[in-house]
Amino acid sequence: MLPCLFRRGITSARAPVPDRSQGRHIVASGRAEGRRRFQWEGRSKPVSPSPEKKLLKIVVLSGAGISAESGLPTFRGAGGLWNGVRAETLATPEAFADDPQRVLDFYNFRRTMVRDAEPNAAHRAVAALEQRHQVTVVTQNVDDLHERAGSTDVLHVHGEIMTARSSRTPSLKVAMQDRDIRLGDLAEDGAQLRPDVVWFGETVRHIDDSLDRIRAADRFLVVGTSLQVWPVADWVHHAVNAGERVIVAPELARCPDGFDWLRGNACEHVPRVAERWLDA
Ligand code: APR
Repeated sequence: MLPCLFRRGITSARAPVPDRSQGRHIVASGRAEGRRRFQWEGRSKPVSPSPEKKLLKIVVLSGAGISAESGLPTFRGAGGLWNGVRAETLATPEAFADDPQRVLDFYNFRRTMVRDAEPNAAHRAVAALEQRHQVTVVTQNVDDLHERAGSTDVLHVHGEIMTARSSRTPSLKVAMQDRDIRLGDLAEDGAQLRPDVVWFGETVRHIDDSLDRIRAADRFLVVGTSLQVWPVADWVHHAVNAGERVIVAPELARCPDGFDWLRGNACEHVPRVAERWLDA
């Protein structure tokens, strides 16, 4: 539970950018995954694909839901960080200028939760795909659970909470694995350090790289995102070469056109999808 500090009831969080897939004909189909449970612990080291098995280009687009079973809160839905709190008061440059201590407290609190969390079976299953395939993780998450599970090509389009940066020069960064950011902590340029995350109104990162990978992907897995924040919400429509598009979430406002929707949690479905793609 978030301390009451972050549960001040004002109005609801900032209205998300309109879903650009409005009005699309959608197909929501569940595909019965095998019932075998795949144990990811101790899986053998990387195996090179046998000649008849193709190396696939796989992109996994993740959101807060993939880290929910590691104990990290999502933003929307039950227990969400934006429930009862206006994101403008915590996740914008204006909020930081207006009340830097409140913003630093919010991210220090979240960073402590990330430190105490462990990657879950879904993070590990995504990482295990690298044993046979070329995998890129495009994540909206600022936590480092994909990396700690073993993923090696992770694009954090909304930044990284385990890093701080100068509030004046974004390229001046400091790793924050084991400490909080305090008022008075300065970067090399003498400016106050701030979380190295992308706030509302700031520029999303790795857009070109993310879209290039998604457009080239043979398989596309979307997991744990409400698809309510642009431009990432639009990226699901760019997987034009993917032979299979799968979305994993317990609920969805709309299933994007052309996706198989596996209704349920990440730790239930992602290991099964990964196992199938490892054996493809
Ligand atoms: N497994 C899979 N999905 C889950 C699970 C779970 N165990 N629990 C919740 N979900 C789903 C929810 O149903 C929801 O669709 O994860 C999604 C989380 O949605 P959001 O909370 O909106 O998170 P996200 O989509 O990542 O938000 C995008 O919004 O505020 C910004 O910068 C913030 O990166 C964030 C962005």
